[in-house]
Amino acid sequence: MDEVKVGIAGLGRLGKVHANNICYKIPGAKLTAACSVAEAELEYAKNELDVSDVYTDYLEMLKSADIDAVAIVTTSSEHCWQIEAALAAGKHVFCEKPLGINEEECKAAERAVEKYPDKIFFLGFMRRYDPSYAYAMQKIKEGAIGKPYLVKATGIDPESLVEGSIKFCSTSGGIYIDMASHDIDLMRWFLGDEVTEVYALGCTFKHPEFEANGDCETGCAMFRFKNGAIGQIHVGRTAAHGYHIETEVVGTEGSIRISPVPAKNLAMIYDKNGAVVECVGSFPERFADAYVLEMKEFIACIREGRKPDVTVYDGTKSTKIAYAAAQSLKEHHPVQL
Ligand code: NAI
Repeated sequence: MDEVKVGIAGLGRLGKVHANNICYKIPGAKLTAACSVAEAELEYAKNELDVSDVYTDYLEMLKSADIDAVAIVTTSSEHCWQIEAALAAGKHVFCEKPLGINEEECKAAERAVEKYPDKIFFLGFMRRYDPSYAYAMQKIKEGAIGKPYLVKATGIDPESLVEGSIKFCSTSGGIYIDMASHDIDLMRWFLGDEVTEVYALGCTFKHPEFEANGDCETGCAMFRFKNGAIGQIHVGRTAAHGYHIETEVVGTEGSIRISPVPAKNLAMIYDKNGAVVECVGSFPERFADAYVLEMKEFIACIREGRKPDVTVYDGTKSTKIAYAAAQSLKEHHPVQL
């Protein structure tokens, strides 16, 4: 296939990032259609992306648009049925994380992917494509730290965006379902093993609105893996300095830290505050390269008839483990998987 024609569903915060990447940064891909339930986003597609074939109805896009593939960047609860419909319509599918919002939905998506083995299905766990995470994985495979046995992951949204987190917390499924799916995926990826038990805690010290809505501001969970390895995840919403994503992988012969300081770039400012490293402020900024690289890989998989490394089963596992963490937090005891 010379050129892969893509229709995008969802042009919100992240949809716009993917749409711009497909339009301007992915060789061999062309954005030919767009779908959104928000009229303003369809105007954006027409005016900013020069995509005139727009739809408010997703199924109509699948039926009528000239597309080989869809990129699903809609609200999480829409993902699974949209995956099933796209595959049934003969399209390749890129879908944002989470795969689905519960295990039943994920299993239905698995069955659809299994039913159409000639179609590419790609799940947007883009951190695996971030150059620093990919490099860390390469070093681990080369034996640089021996056998990895502990992953410590931190993911804290900036305090500057806390109003949005408060607004959505009552419908987000709670802090682990909302925020931990990438970290859960990275733990499984780096440790090459599966979670058997989780114990999760939560607390709220700054914004009582989280607790009032049945959620919490900060979560900290411990995970036991089948081979005895350990995972630890700290998620939160009140980082004063920016968007803090940090991961440490500890092995028998050493350790690797990925962005221990979530630096904006390599510049250091020397002023009355001391030697200052500015930090990244948001996920589109921190993972700009990763969003491009994962979409390049999706398009390359279609053109070369190759299956991606990240699978639909990774999506189900991440959702299932996040639910176990949410259950542990609610019921105050470790949960077995
Ligand atoms: P958003 O709320 O800004 O945008 C959602 C979009 O979906 C809107 O354009 C809305 O009009 C559209 N939409 C909803 N239902 C639809 C339907 N039935 N048909 C067509 N369009 C529909 O949300 P945001 O932040 O862009 O997130 C979108 C997805 O991306 C979510 O699943 C989220 O979990 C995921 N995400 C992933 C990130 C990552 O790092 N990989 C970061 C942020 C979000």
